[in-house]
Amino acid sequence: MTIAALETSALVDPRFHATDGPHAIWRRLREDDPVHWHEPGQYPGFWSLTRYDDVRAVSMDAGTFSSARGILLRPSAQGEDIGGGRTLALTDPPRHKALRALVSDWFTTRSVRDLEEFMRGAVRDVVARALERRECDFVTDIAARLPLYVICRLMGVPPAEQELLFSLTRQAFAAGAPEARSAAHQQIMQYFIELMYRRMDEPADDLVSALVSGTVDGELLTEEEILLNCDNLLVGGTENVRLAVSSGMSAFLDHPGAWEAVRADRELLPGAVEEVLRWTSSATHLLRTATRSVVLRGREIREGDRVVLWIPSANRDERVFDQPDRFDVARRPNRHLALGIGEHFCLGGMLARVEMRLMFDELLDSVRRVERTGPPVPVESIVVSGVERLPVRLVAV
Ligand code: HEM
Repeated sequence: MTIAALETSALVDPRFHATDGPHAIWRRLREDDPVHWHEPGQYPGFWSLTRYDDVRAVSMDAGTFSSARGILLRPSAQGEDIGGGRTLALTDPPRHKALRALVSDWFTTRSVRDLEEFMRGAVRDVVARALERRECDFVTDIAARLPLYVICRLMGVPPAEQELLFSLTRQAFAAGAPEARSAAHQQIMQYFIELMYRRMDEPADDLVSALVSGTVDGELLTEEEILLNCDNLLVGGTENVRLAVSSGMSAFLDHPGAWEAVRADRELLPGAVEEVLRWTSSATHLLRTATRSVVLRGREIREGDRVVLWIPSANRDERVFDQPDRFDVARRPNRHLALGIGEHFCLGGMLARVEMRLMFDELLDSVRRVERTGPPVPVESIVVSGVERLPVRLVAV
């Protein structure tokens, strides 16, 4: 049975992604049309891949499926992403490996372990401040803070300037007027221009200095490349962790038994973090462009075709996950693809896992009850999913 184009065209509607609707379509696509063609419209034509095995195989084959022409679907009117071939995420091997090597030291197990004490202190302060207020927005007042403080520290943003970046990133990601978002984004870029020049004059032990002084194929990065990579690190380091923690908390509020189980047995926490990652799958899609013609499940993907990998669909594939629509903090194994896989596997994956663990751990230690005081507001986006606002009341232990 083929699935009507009208039905699948909803997959490019941001408002549709704020509902459970996409999961019903993805389930049917996985079953009946796992390599599905979308005719061009507001977006250029593209293939949708919805099965775990296909999303995994394409992610692992960077030679055939390139990232250099962009990794997110963009309306045709916007043209190609200016980051193509310049940022870490939008570069193919072999240049990708060299670019990743410039910054990867900050994200090793050891570096993350060295940061743990700082992160624990920061999260304790954040939760204590939220407890004093009792009622707050879980997203802005709790989930968004630690990831921003951490990436600022790694990038060398002085503590006195972090609140400014915090408020600018909140405006840049907020729902509402695109003009306000774009103005905030401009200010963030302006901030990084100044920080880049400061580090050119006086290098320090941080990511911005590494981008300023590092070379790829014997050449320094251009100023534009440095700035685009700074922007990617800031966005990559903040947006997905904020969404995963907020939507994870929302899932725990829907499944209070799971929250209490983790409270009673903290050894369940690392597995619970993996289940939150799978369940929330905050990065909704990744895009690749075929560098040669290939046949996948009998469909011919031609050179230059765009291929969209739907991560939340792969992570609910019934061929891989037992009872995929069940939130199960004890799930084993749990080989989700929420952090990607292959060449471009999330650089901050380990950091993200530790940030999530520390935030949930502190909430379980210091807060007896988290209660909703209003309905969660979902993000409307085809790029990321999760909650935009989560009004809560916190009751101390
Ligand atoms: C729950 C949190 C996170 C999620 C769900 C997430 C998701 C992802 C995914 C799916 C990819 C693969 C992109 C691709 O294959 O094209 C990726 C790559 C990346 N992520 Fe994350 N991420 C998270 C946290 C972070 C953090 C904390 C950082 C810290 C800076 C970060 C930085 C990056 C970077 C730089 C890349 C590009 C890596 C490359 O292309 O080599 N992410 N992330």
